[in-house]
Amino acid sequence: MSVIEAIRWSDDGHAVRILDQRRLPGAEVYRELRSVDDVRDAIATLAVRGAPAIGIAGAMGMVIAIDEAKRDGVDPMPRLRAAHEIIRGARPTAVNLAWAVDRVMAVATTVAAANGDLRSALCVEATRILDEDRAMCRRIGEHAAALIPDGANVITHCNAGALATGGIGTALAAIYVAVEQGKRVSVFADETRPLLQGSRLTAWELQRAGIPVTVLIDSAAASLMRERTIDLCIVGADRIAANGDVANKVGTFPLALAAKHHGIPFYVAAPTSTLDPSTKSGERIHIEQRGTAEVIAPFGTPTAPDDVAAYNPAFDVTPAELITAIITDGGVYRPPYHFVSTT
Ligand code: MRU
Repeated sequence: MSVIEAIRWSDDGHAVRILDQRRLPGAEVYRELRSVDDVRDAIATLAVRGAPAIGIAGAMGMVIAIDEAKRDGVDPMPRLRAAHEIIRGARPTAVNLAWAVDRVMAVATTVAAANGDLRSALCVEATRILDEDRAMCRRIGEHAAALIPDGANVITHCNAGALATGGIGTALAAIYVAVEQGKRVSVFADETRPLLQGSRLTAWELQRAGIPVTVLIDSAAASLMRERTIDLCIVGADRIAANGDVANKVGTFPLALAAKHHGIPFYVAAPTSTLDPSTKSGERIHIEQRGTAEVIAPFGTPTAPDDVAAYNPAFDVTPAELITAIITDGGVYRPPYHFVSTT
């Protein structure tokens, strides 16, 4: 299986190299982000996307802020504080972004107070966040693969694969590891309106890995469950509250409702960096609202009358009671969920 590197340092070590996901599946284009504004824009426009990947991009972006300060001949700490705010505000729902830039900022504060080498300390921390994510993906896959029977038909939503992380993904890690173990797995990928992360990204990624995949119209998931044997659903997460409520790509909640109705296990796979014990429950999660154009003129093609209003939340919250298990790098958690802070 060839692994996609959705994000890494550029060869010269002074840029964040990303696979531009806006161009998939038509073109495999890599971009080098060399300024804080580049990083912010790439996150906001979903050139880099998926909770773990935007956290990694944000952490690396903090190093780019130091390079920019050096180029401009200014004190790096004020620039870092500004970069921290700019990047942190690029998208609100995935906790990984705030978690990663806060972590890098904490290192910066300590190192600056000790008059240490800021750039190398921050570079080490950002690279550590990337490496840790890669390792967490593998462990999630190992825990979750045990829940996938041989010959399974699986529904997933959005893209929680290698494209969304520093490693082999979260929900898709389960499938990759199951396949490595010799199991046969067929995937139905919800197309995931309106930006089509399922059909553009998950189908592309799984096809590339040689795993059978069928693109599913989002609204056909319930009828597919009635017509065919679906063994399980598995999705990623952007933020998991202390009580196990899960924010993930909009459309996850109706998929979980349909799974409950049909008695199909519904799993969520996510790294511990996506757990947010400080948020008690799902209603406290800030859901990103995106622009009208994505709905009424997707990819530049009008599909609704000009200027009609559109409701476009990027995420929804699936209540814990619909979730059979939450699989993290730490293991498999079953309800009732009580996530607590470990720091
Ligand atoms: O808007 P996106 O494409 O960033 O949304 C991504 C998702 O909802 C993913 O399921 C989630 O971030 C988990 S990625 C491992």
